[in-house]
Amino acid sequence: MMMKPNSSSSIITPFPSLCPENSKPLIFLVLSSLLLSTTVFYFYNFSSSPWQRGIRINNVGNSISNTSLKTQCNLFSGDWIPYPKGPFYTNATVCEIDDRQNCMKFGRPDTDFLKWRWKPDDCDLPLFDGTEFLQLMRGKSLAFVGDSLSRNQLQSLLCLLATVVDSVQVSHAPFSKARMWFYAEYNFTLAFYWSFHLVRSEDAEVNVNLTRMNVYLDEVDESWVTQVENFDFLIISSGQWFLRPLMYYEKGKLIGCYLCKKENITDLDVFYGYKMAFRTSFRALLNLKKFKGITFLRTFTPSHYENGYWNEGGTCNRTRPTPKHEMKLSDYFSELHSTQVAELRAAEMEGKKIRGLKFRLLEVTKMMTLRPDGHPSHYGHPASANIRTPDCAHWCLPGPVDTWNEALLQMLKMEAKSRDPR
Ligand SMILES: *[C@@H]1O[C@H](CO)[C@@H](O)[C@H](O)[C@H]1NC(C)=O
Ligand SMILES: *[C@@H]1O[C@H](CO)[C@@H](O)[C@H](O)[C@H]1NC(C)=O
Ligand SMILES: *[C@@H]1O[C@H](CO)[C@@H](O)[C@H](O)[C@H]1NC(C)=O
Ligand SMILES: *[C@@H]1O[C@H](CO)[C@@H](O)[C@H](O)[C@H]1NC(C)=O
Ligand SMILES: *[C@@H]1O[C@H](CO)[C@@H](O)[C@H](O)[C@H]1NC(C)=O
Ligand SMILES: *[C@@H]1O[C@H](CO)[C@@H](O)[C@H](O)[C@H]1NC(C)=O
Repeated sequence: MMMKPNSSSSIITPFPSLCPENSKPLIFLVLSSLLLSTTVFYFYNFSSSPWQRGIRINNVGNSISNTSLKTQCNLFSGDWIPYPKGPFYTNATVCEIDDRQNCMKFGRPDTDFLKWRWKPDDCDLPLFDGTEFLQLMRGKSLAFVGDSLSRNQLQSLLCLLATVVDSVQVSHAPFSKARMWFYAEYNFTLAFYWSFHLVRSEDAEVNVNLTRMNVYLDEVDESWVTQVENFDFLIISSGQWFLRPLMYYEKGKLIGCYLCKKENITDLDVFYGYKMAFRTSFRALLNLKKFKGITFLRTFTPSHYENGYWNEGGTCNRTRPTPKHEMKLSDYFSELHSTQVAELRAAEMEGKKIRGLKFRLLEVTKMMTLRPDGHPSHYGHPASANIRTPDCAHWCLPGPVDTWNEALLQMLKMEAKSRDPR
């Protein structure tokens, strides 16, 4: 069953306002991180276990070869280095940048955040080449499935490609949960499926500050899964919407809740819901009879409120990346990350057995943890709007999100090579 498109105003429209002025999600995001991890900035050393585990096993799917080293290079282990020539497009490029992430349009005064490039330790990450991307995608289709951060990456891709070729938007109904673009010259279809929990969910109680939602952890959201069977590539992600108060259902029965504090209802943590939602989604893909696509999990990115919580004057006003040696990820964010990676790994094993289905990691968590300077903060709306709460969760466009697509292109190239080794 799909959610009724207008059951709660902006929250479940295709591009909900996640900005503070008229919606709750950002507030949930911050509030619940606040409630759960008493300190978002209670850090622990990044180089310890979950990362290492993720990275070590992962030397095939998300690495490119470095011919001079005659070895594979992990694209996601590296650091940001200055790149004075950035950015690759601007707010004047004819492409769609959501106002809430259009930091240039709203006059963000510092531009240094645009002048960094990701440098993997053992190789260089090539600049995005739109022509190369489109040639790889000739006759193919790629879909993003997820929330507004997924849209962040989609819009980056649309803008990066806009410098090469025009697209035609094929469909967009105001309340539709899907949008589609077609690049006729390349017979390439690009789609976006809006599904913030990936599984079915609905508002449980409306009109209170912390709208509680029912999440049906074992029922995939049909609105996307029925559409993707013929896609060649999927990029799936989800995050912030699991951090709010949730009632967890399985087999149609309430099995517990997160942040609900109700008598006689088992308290379950955020990781449980997050784990089950990915498990259900990946299983649904494994069970799609005709699906032959490659699924990429784009990993979680943390928000960066500092000097207080979002409602206590917390900000994200940095203008430079965090040096790598100072980087720490809270236990909380780290566990969210390892939870989703574990599910991806399990799906990857299953996929090998079933139809050789491939599951890959677009491992952006680490690189984005280093970019507290990349968020819209107050530059996602006109100053006249006088919005006090900064957005330290989404990412400016152009901005560090563009790197996700650079890495994606290299991974797609590797996949093409492994299919057709020449
Ligand atoms: C782009 O950004 C500049 C600098 O902030 C601003 O003056 C200009 O109006 C913006 N243009 C568009 C089309 O948003
Ligand atoms: C290969 O790795 C070395 C060592 O990091 C680096 O200097 C070189 O630029 C890399 N080559 C390519 C093609 O990325
Ligand atoms: C375009 O791509 C689709 C697959 O996405 C394929 O079925 C179709 O034959 C292609 N059309 C042309 C004209 O190449
Ligand atoms: C909602 O928030 C307002 C302002 O923060 C507060 O006064 C009110 O009591 C809250 N309502 C509920 C039902 O929690
Ligand atoms: C919780 O369970 C106890 C024991 O069954 C019962 O007495 C109590 O009324 C229940 N509380 C609620 C809010 O349902
Ligand atoms: C960033 O915000 C903090 C308050 O949260 C303030 O003390 C600091 O001066 C600000 N830095 C800049 C560069 O604006």
